[in-house]
Amino acid sequence: SFSISTYLREHIRTVPDWPAPGVQFRDITPLLQDPEVFRTLIKAFVDRYQSPERRPDVVAGLDARGFIIGAVVAYELKVGFVPVRKKGKLPFTTVQETYELEYGSATVELHTDAVKPGDRVLLIDDLIATGGTMMAGKRLLEKLGATVLEGAAIVDLPELGGSQRLKESGLALHTLVDFE
Ligand code: PRP
Ligand code: HPA
Repeated sequence: SFSISTYLREHIRTVPDWPAPGVQFRDITPLLQDPEVFRTLIKAFVDRYQSPERRPDVVAGLDARGFIIGAVVAYELKVGFVPVRKKGKLPFTTVQETYELEYGSATVELHTDAVKPGDRVLLIDDLIATGGTMMAGKRLLEKLGATVLEGAAIVDLPELGGSQRLKESGLALHTLVDFE
């Protein structure tokens, strides 16, 4: 029988020692490049989120690879798309969240009018590693009074503990491929 997980995994490239020695980088660009695989990926998300109980009011995508998936899913669901951007990119008034990286920290921003209080939001990225990026996105949306229905990503790296931390924070998560 057809396994979406196996199918997608076969189209994710592993690049050893990038961007640093010892890191096995999971590269989703081959998956986007193949039109049939790209459409299968998008359909998997659209099928899940067009069901009435999961249909969001808005899709938020995490900078930058979350934009590629998130915008297409939003378009197909016929809802709006909002970008959660890295610091310094958004021109209007913003809310900010800073989170810790292995070395140093990162800040993400969201326009204050990106969502309305009570909006039900689907938060999308390509991959969950430590979970820091998705956690920061969730906090930004909640600062504006929105509710994150679910976080979705293509890939989870469970050994890094991010998906577990996100679930412990009360976020429902949906990912399609695990890499140990
Ligand atoms: C990567 C990836 C996720 C995040 C996952 O993005 O696309 O957004 O890191 O890591 P985390 O779970 O530990 O937060 P990156 O910061 O490399 O940015 P890019 O999409 O602009 O390349
Ligand atoms: N692939 C893509 N993005 C990432 C990874 C990875 O393996 N680890 C942290 N961000």
